[in-house]
Amino acid sequence: MNQGKVLVVEDDKSVLAVLRGLLEDDGYWVRTVETGQRARAELKENDFDVCLVDINLPDMDGLELLKETKETGSTAPIIIMTARNTMRNAIDAMKHGAFEYITKPFENDEISMQVKRALESRKLVEDFQQLKKEVRKTYEPGNMVGTSPAMQRVYKVIGQVANTDASILIQGESGTGKELVAKTIHYNSPRWNRPFTAVNCAAIPRELLESELFCHEKGSFTGALERRTGKFELAEDGTLFLDEVGDIPLELQTKLLRVLQEREYSRVGGRELLRANARIVAATNQDLERAVREKTFREDLFFRLKVIPIYLPPLRERRGDIPQLVGYFIDKINREMGTRVSGISPDALKLLEDHGWPGNVRELENALIRAAVLSPGAVLFPKDFTFHNSRPGDPPPAVDHLSLEEIIHHKLEDYFQRTKGVDVDNLYSLVIERVERPLIELTLRKTGGNQIRAAEILGINRNTLRKKISELHIVVKKDV
Ligand SMILES: Nc1ncnc2c1ncn2[C@@H]1O[C@H](COP(=O)(O)OP(=O)(O)OP(=O)(O)O)[C@@H](O)[C@H]1O
Ligand SMILES: [Mg+2]
Repeated sequence: MNQGKVLVVEDDKSVLAVLRGLLEDDGYWVRTVETGQRARAELKENDFDVCLVDINLPDMDGLELLKETKETGSTAPIIIMTARNTMRNAIDAMKHGAFEYITKPFENDEISMQVKRALESRKLVEDFQQLKKEVRKTYEPGNMVGTSPAMQRVYKVIGQVANTDASILIQGESGTGKELVAKTIHYNSPRWNRPFTAVNCAAIPRELLESELFCHEKGSFTGALERRTGKFELAEDGTLFLDEVGDIPLELQTKLLRVLQEREYSRVGGRELLRANARIVAATNQDLERAVREKTFREDLFFRLKVIPIYLPPLRERRGDIPQLVGYFIDKINREMGTRVSGISPDALKLLEDHGWPGNVRELENALIRAAVLSPGAVLFPKDFTFHNSRPGDPPPAVDHLSLEEIIHHKLEDYFQRTKGVDVDNLYSLVIERVERPLIELTLRKTGGNQIRAAEILGINRNTLRKKISELHIVVKKDV
């Protein structure tokens, strides 16, 4: 049986013989060589699963061979063997990507076990690579649906920017496909094999966002019990997707701008300077130009992020894409949910083409999922779609009859859908903060910026109001 191919590089003939015997007994196909030169030739010719390399070779340093092999992109784990057990050697070996470091004399069991572990790890790496290739396929440019002129323009820009490192700002309403575009760019860029890391800036409480992005040193603030890796570090030299970037608080915008300019940052509460190598793709459904005018978003950061802007038009402005999207989603839903929808009636399709789609492509997908799951037959009819039909220009649904609680309830539901309601471990204060800000802003506006009057109306102490204004960075505007 062949458990895998092992290369042993060792100049001591007796050790070589022992290793060969041992590994062959374990069922491996073994090749042994005594010099670095021979090892190079073998590595070129054969695809080894594991290499055992002595650190002291007659013609070269084993670590040199390790470095070289890693540089060729080989994924074969390399185990370094040495008779001299120095810390320096061990550190150097691991630094250069050795899988393990073994000192002689070794126990036979130790060799067997380490080679087995190395093989298992290689298998995991390969499975992971395979998985990444499969993920990449799902983001091939052709997998975005829609041939409207507006989408063609989007595809063209994706093609133009994929191979560059330019920062990208994707703007568009909720559900228009911003994240899909970000991933399509990543998986078609030279960084596709590196991590794609997303941060939803709206879903993370303000006070935690900085450490989420840049990590914090243990004890740098109350509650920072241990060090957690920040997203910039996790993204490595892949792509960092800053989703809902318009929600980044002002003071953090300053730090982010510095990081993007200098490509360097330090952890919260730390001093060491780290490189920020990730490519930045940001997205927002807010009107950032307006936020810049209103001074809630830094203009310099806006321009730094928006080196290449991509605008995703709302679905109602490209209704021609709807039939294709419907076909695409029906196939997808059948595949993923086991439904057996074979078609849609012309009047049902017309209904979908006429709908306003405030939630854009995501809303269309959800409407089709609901219809596919609940419809009794194989064809979808208008009655299978339960949304309230509206066209752009129709008056928004009346809210007069709703109580304040109901309005807030609706807004919260919308917020949960937008942020997917995940990863929030401080939801209470987050929501309070979100309610507090507009309440204070509005009251100040209505009182022409008079803080004494505003505090009275709000029923809070004037100092409390002042503190809130400064904490929330509220800019006082007056109604004219
Ligand atoms: N052109 C398209 N072709 C196929 N699927 C699409 C397209 N656009 C969007 N989708 C799908 O619609 C859903 C919503 O897209 P996505 O999450 O990228 O939107 P978004 O703009 O990031 O939304 P939000 O602002 O709510 O975060 C996803 O399931 C996505 O795969
Ligand atoms: Mg999104």
